[in-house]
Amino acid sequence: MVIYAVKNYDEMSRKAANMISAQLILKPESVLGLATGSTPVGAYKQLVEWYEKGDLDFSRASSVNLDEYKGLSGEHDQSYRYFMNSNLFDHVNIDRNRTNVPDGLAEDAEAECRRYNQLIRDLGGIDLQLLGIGGNGHIGFNEPCDVFEKGTHVVKLTEETKESNSRFFASIEEVPTQALTMGVGNIMSARKILLLASGEAKAQALYDSCFGPVIPAVPASVLQLHQDTVIIADEAALSLIR
Ligand code: F6R
Repeated sequence: MVIYAVKNYDEMSRKAANMISAQLILKPESVLGLATGSTPVGAYKQLVEWYEKGDLDFSRASSVNLDEYKGLSGEHDQSYRYFMNSNLFDHVNIDRNRTNVPDGLAEDAEAECRRYNQLIRDLGGIDLQLLGIGGNGHIGFNEPCDVFEKGTHVVKLTEETKESNSRFFASIEEVPTQALTMGVGNIMSARKILLLASGEAKAQALYDSCFGPVIPAVPASVLQLHQDTVIIADEAALSLIR
């Protein structure tokens, strides 16, 4: 695990965008594992800017997103497909057919999870997996629990996560209760992992993930076992570490 300490959200975003750009330049046909939420928005913005300047080319890249709410269609403005389109895919030259997000409306969610695992395998695995971290240490929607789930699966969202994500919905009642998420095994099989953390609300989870025991009660702690994990965190997120 390598931890880069940066001043604030903007610096974190620029550094993350630099690493994603480097990945794309070195391997234009990269498979990018992508995340949603507030954390990566600045990095995506920066990537769009560099694309517009002509410095980046996504035409040969593929993407697989970590997760999607169960029950939301890609047109719903809080779905993760919608988020990805509006924050990144609509603004760069990635081939839309090579962008993948679990289908929240799949009639058979278990079959959709199996399809997603196979898709990741068929793509040859993930080159660079971008991650945010939940205040409870979750990655993707792998919530604190008793076991590390390997593959893509359906999860029940915790009250804490629903509460935190309710800021994007009209009320907490509208937050879906379940999601489809890559498992810890899918994430750990990525060749490189880039975790971003900004703000004091992430400080305890970041501390526990980096220095606590590797336990499923703190899902991100498993990253201690990955051979190439880079963390970019700002001063507030690192406040319990430095
Ligand atoms: C999003 C995801 C989540 C978020 C996490 C942090 O695809 O998988 O694990 O990364 O909930 O969310 P933010 O960035 O909104 O603080």
